[in-house]
Amino acid sequence: SKQEPAAPVEAASAPASEPAPVKVYTVGTDAAYAPFEYQNEKGEIVGFSVDLLTAVAEKGGFQVKFINTPWEGIFNALTQGDRDLLISSITITDERKQTMDFSDPYFDAIQLIAVKADSKVAKFEDLKKLKVGVQTGTTGDEVVTKLQGKTSTLIKRFESTPLALKELEAGGVDAVVADNGVVIHYVANNPDAKFKTVADTKSFAPEQYGIAVKKGNAELMAMINKGLAAVKADGSYAAIYKKTFGT
Ligand code: ARG
Repeated sequence: SKQEPAAPVEAASAPASEPAPVKVYTVGTDAAYAPFEYQNEKGEIVGFSVDLLTAVAEKGGFQVKFINTPWEGIFNALTQGDRDLLISSITITDERKQTMDFSDPYFDAIQLIAVKADSKVAKFEDLKKLKVGVQTGTTGDEVVTKLQGKTSTLIKRFESTPLALKELEAGGVDAVVADNGVVIHYVANNPDAKFKTVADTKSFAPEQYGIAVKKGNAELMAMINKGLAAVKADGSYAAIYKKTFGT
């Protein structure tokens, strides 16, 4: 019987007039961190980080798809290639730089203490012998672990920051240490919790958030930094900031 000739290779590829299909990069984010990344009533991932990265991608010439990714496994998801990039209010630290690459910083933060309104806590040192709630593996966890020691049994670790704050409300911990933006947002939106915040700029170092990519992914990093510079320069960063924080 007569055999069909093999189709020429050219036939499989798109004609030159059609643009090449755009790769959609997967973005890991722990969407339990309002106002930075959280789920709205419809279950959509929204917030400052989403608006920012969407604008960055548009300017940088790439596409993104956000995937809710628990903090606990977020760095592994990146190193194992399950996510192309992470935006999750991640503080750029020397330790993390060993295992991933960070974009230029896009947000300044610092740790903030949340306590009940009638608490006597006035500075970070006062937490030395108190029960403190933190989100596991965050910079808040790191500073409290440093204060109390690795073997302290007074540190209560939670898989999300809201869970730690709920425990403070319930009286299971005496304080929570977490990023200022998320603590301020929670306190403002939960007046019934009767919290106050305690700042201690002497004890806490300034932190900066960065977008993380797999170590060596220079191509994606260049597009991110290009987009970031563009949104900072053209006023869209300021507009997104204002939309989120009101100033
Ligand atoms: N900035 C802190 C850190 O990098 C906390 C970030 C937590 N982010 C989140 N989406 N839960 O450790």
